[in-house]
Parts: sequence; C-alpha cells; structure tokens
Amino acid sequence: MLVGANGSGKSTLLRVIMGLVQPDSGRVDCSHRVSLVFQNPDHQLLLPSCGADLQLGMPGQLSPAQRQERLGIALEQVGLQGFAQRPIHTLSGGQKQRLAIAAALASDSRVLLLDEPTTLLDPRSQQEMLTLVRHLCSEGLTALWVTHRLEELDCCDGAFPMRQGTVGPAMATG
Ligand SMILES: Nc1ncnc2c1ncn2[C@@H]1O[C@H](COP(=O)(O)OP(=O)(O)O)[C@@H](O)[C@H]1O
Ligand SMILES: [Mg+2]
Repeated sequence: MLVGANGSGKSTLLRVIMGLVQPDSGRVDCSHRVSLVFQNPDHQLLLPSCGADLQLGMPGQLSPAQRQERLGIALEQVGLQGFAQRPIHTLSGGQKQRLAIAAALASDSRVLLLDEPTTLLDPRSQQEMLTLVRHLCSEGLTALWVTHRLEELDCCDGAFPMRQGTVGPAMATG
C-alpha cells in the first residue's frame, strides 16, 4: 500500500507505472502486464454489459470458446458469477469495482494498481474489496493499493508513505 496526502504524487506514480505519463527522469522496470483500477468505477467501465466490458481487454488471439471460458472464470474470481449479461448501470459501486478487477484478470494482468478504490464504497463493499484483493494476492497477483484510510493498512504486506513526489521508508503495519 501507498499512503500520502492529497497532491503528494500517488496517482502520478501509478500513471507512470502504467506508462500513461513519461517520467522526467528514471525508468519503470516491469515486464508484466499492469492494470489500473480507478477510484470511480464509472470512469473505466465502457460497455453496456459486464460480459462485453470484460471481452474488451482480452488478448485478441483467443477463440470465441476461449473468450467465454475466460469470461466465466474472471467473473467467478471476483464473486460475480452469472453476471455476463447484466447491464453495468444495474451494478452497485462495489460490484463495479469488482468487475474492474475481473477485467484486469481477464486481460492477463499480473499487477494491479488500485487508486483509492474504496473511497466511493459503503463500509461493507470496502471490506469486500480488501478481502478480494488480499485473496488474489495470495494466488500470485501483485497489487499496489493507494489509500488514505489508515485502517486499510492492517491488510497489507507492506506500506510506504509518499510525500512531495518521493516515496519514503517502509512503514510499520499490522
Ligand atoms: N503530468 C503531470 N505533469 C506535471 N505535474 C503533474 C502531472 N500530473 C499531476 N501533476 C501534479 O503532481 C502533483 C501530484 O498529483 P497526484 O499524483 O494527483 O497526487 P495524489 O494522487 O497523491 O493526490 C499535483 O501537484 C499535480 O498537479
Ligand atoms: Mg490521487
């Protein structure tokens, strides 16, 4: 997890890792596919149905049968089994965030960047997101989670503070 005041550069760091912003100096060394989950899920879900949105990010060379299989697996991994035909506007905020994670998984991402992903969620959905990402990390995913809610630090394997564009030494966490 990454913690820091507003304007300290957390979102910028994630954008640099994604390759959306070029750093003035230094370089990012990451050979895995990376996906970004935004604070507001309505800023990243593009297509009308859950299934269509997930298909969008899948590798192009898959056959229709492989796409269907992958769709089912990704939805199940985030607890949205049976949601393929569901219109996205009928989902709760927490379900939308989980769908964004499913899209990352379906696209073969091994690294997930989450930019304050629970800010707009109710407490129960916040906890579900934390539990889900923790579980996916136990299965090999790497996640970098930006938060300003210090209680979320209880769930992480390590945390770093960010201040004025610089990452500080590791923090003590639960
Ligand atoms: N592409 C850019 N070039 C220069 N400055 C930027 C760019 N993007 C963001 N900033 C600035 O970097 C600072 C950190 O912003 P941001 O990463 O959004 O902080 P945080 O997510 O920690 O609140 C802000 O002052 C912002 O205006
Ligand atoms: Mg930010």
